[in-house]
Amino acid sequence: MAALNGSLSCFEQMDEVQFKHWTSLLEKRTGMHLPKERRSFLETSLGLRMKEIGVQNYAAYYQHLQSEKNGGREWLTLVDRLTVHETRFFRHDPSLDFLEQIILPRLFESEPNRTKLQIWSAGCSTGEEAYTLCMISDQFIKNLSINEQCYLAVTGMDISIPALVTARKAVYDKYKVRHVPEQYLEDYFVKQDDGRFQIIEALKKRSCFVPFNLIDMKKTLLEPMDIIFCQNVLIYFNRDRRKQIIHQLVQRLKPGGFLVLGAGESLNNPHPELEKIDFPNSLAFFKNKIMSN
Ligand SMILES: C[S@@+](CC[C@H](N)C(=O)[O-])C[C@H]1O[C@@H](n2cnc3c(N)ncnc32)[C@H](O)[C@@H]1O
Repeated sequence: MAALNGSLSCFEQMDEVQFKHWTSLLEKRTGMHLPKERRSFLETSLGLRMKEIGVQNYAAYYQHLQSEKNGGREWLTLVDRLTVHETRFFRHDPSLDFLEQIILPRLFESEPNRTKLQIWSAGCSTGEEAYTLCMISDQFIKNLSINEQCYLAVTGMDISIPALVTARKAVYDKYKVRHVPEQYLEDYFVKQDDGRFQIIEALKKRSCFVPFNLIDMKKTLLEPMDIIFCQNVLIYFNRDRRKQIIHQLVQRLKPGGFLVLGAGESLNNPHPELEKIDFPNSLAFFKNKIMSN
């Protein structure tokens, strides 16, 4: 009967106070902002999970999560259910053209003998974005006859552990690889007997996947990156959080490095050290070479 009362969910309806408690908990721990229109999504996600583990009502489930340490097993399961993992290989052509035509040439022009190229896929979901960046960069390095020795490392990070497990397995079904250009499919995947596609070992070796929380980046011990992609993630955060996250990402970017966001995901002038680079249908920045404090 919940639908008759204005909710699309077939689970117990939440009152205003309950909704506020749950959205504050989510915001505090993940930074994710859940607007009122997503209330039935929250009711359904919580309801399904409560049914699975035999918890009777929202209050008891809330209590259960509070009793776990932040990052406890049940919390991690719930976060996975509440986050959107939609992704695909070669998802946003303009950003990838920008990588191939502007970022990589500029990085190698400014440092032709570089021995390392480090890329970060922040909010990598099930790995498709990280592997896409890895394939394009690997191809670029191979085509540079002067610098085949450059070590490429792509780090994918996400708050969802199940998503990271899938990324590490690096096996995708036929539907998932439908956007991979033919040559890349041939060079970087092996077709298994079951018809699925496995990323080749050489590419897996250059990619690693680690859990992290974008709103708790102080704990990440990463060397500064040459390139950071953070696409289709900031949309889930409010304006202040976006600002904080961009600030933290800039701290983890080398001077002279590039930050690529999802088109339309940022604020005007997001950070004083970032210079926006005009490229059609993309949102990309260059970190000026003055070192941050
Ligand atoms: C829609 S996917 C985007 C995947 C990929 N970047 C792309 O553009 O295809 C968003 C990802 O952000 C992750 N995410 C959400 N909140 C996060 C947080 N606080 N810290 C790290 N990752 C987060 C989700 O788990 C999800 O996998």
